Amino acid sequence: MTDQSIIQDINRLKKEKDAVILAHVYQDGEIQDIADFTGDSLALSKKAVDTDAELIVFCGVSFMAETAHILNPDKTVLIPKLEAGCGLADMATIEELQKQKEKYPDAAVVSYVNSSSEIKSISDVCCTSSNAVDIVNAMKQDTILFVPDKNLGSFVAEQTDKKIILWGGYCYVHENITPDHLNDMKKQHPAAEVIVHPECTKPVRDIADFIGGTGHMASYVKESDTKEFIVGTEDNFAYRLRKDNPKKTFFEVKTECIGMRKSSLADVRNALEKEQHKIKIDEDVRKKAYKALDNMMNMS
Ligand code: 13P
Ligand code: SF4
Repeated sequence: MTDQSIIQDINRLKKEKDAVILAHVYQDGEIQDIADFTGDSLALSKKAVDTDAELIVFCGVSFMAETAHILNPDKTVLIPKLEAGCGLADMATIEELQKQKEKYPDAAVVSYVNSSSEIKSISDVCCTSSNAVDIVNAMKQDTILFVPDKNLGSFVAEQTDKKIILWGGYCYVHENITPDHLNDMKKQHPAAEVIVHPECTKPVRDIADFIGGTGHMASYVKESDTKEFIVGTEDNFAYRLRKDNPKKTFFEVKTECIGMRKSSLADVRNALEKEQHKIKIDEDVRKKAYKALDNMMNMS
């Protein structure tokens, strides 16, 4: 079957089933192209809440599809590939977080959305890369247990007076980006600005001209007079940037997220046709996780 006939099937099934396709900006370009909406984690969560569609096909990793379901229990949320996971989200276990909560009883637990539903269910509030600093600053507690990304946590710690207790988690996609590699790229493209995700390590962030989540990076590039950018995050994000800024040039740093690249166009078609794979979460966990996400929505 050609890509063109798969795309025709997707468009037909979408109408027949009153479905909406949401895609993260790290998805392959062909999936971003068939999506009704592309964006960062926060924008996709908001879109999932706002949509009237009965069926949401979430092209991203599992914690993102779970977030859409937690916020929309009456809608069906499908993920094209069940095994599309996030290595960072797997780095926080409920047992360890329970222990940390006991160790720091006065701390507020702020969990990055890149975490399991169970972690969210025992957190005070969630955050994304684009609102993490604002959420932490808005908490009434002076001490924050920030879970699970140590790099985003240290980025937040640089911008708040609150005491941040870091978890040990990290994203391998962003830890793959090294200062040496970025410096080499800067030599090759001296006119380029370096933009990086806050999941990058501190030495990498220190080299950057701009640090922000994918939503913030997209706005920065759009508004900038600079014509060339070295893109310090998942390579597929450069596809989005090129499409939205055809006159600008983008250089990938060569790092890929396995989970984000699991789904193909055929998987999206199969998801719509067979209504697979439905996100299911224990209702007690879902309700508690909803509170942490709803707190975030109200604060951002
Ligand atoms: P954004 O919310 O910035 O898109 O980040 C999601 C993510 O998984 C980064 O690795
Ligand atoms: Fe998770 Fe990293 Fe992939 Fe983002 S890029 S989904 S944090 S593994």
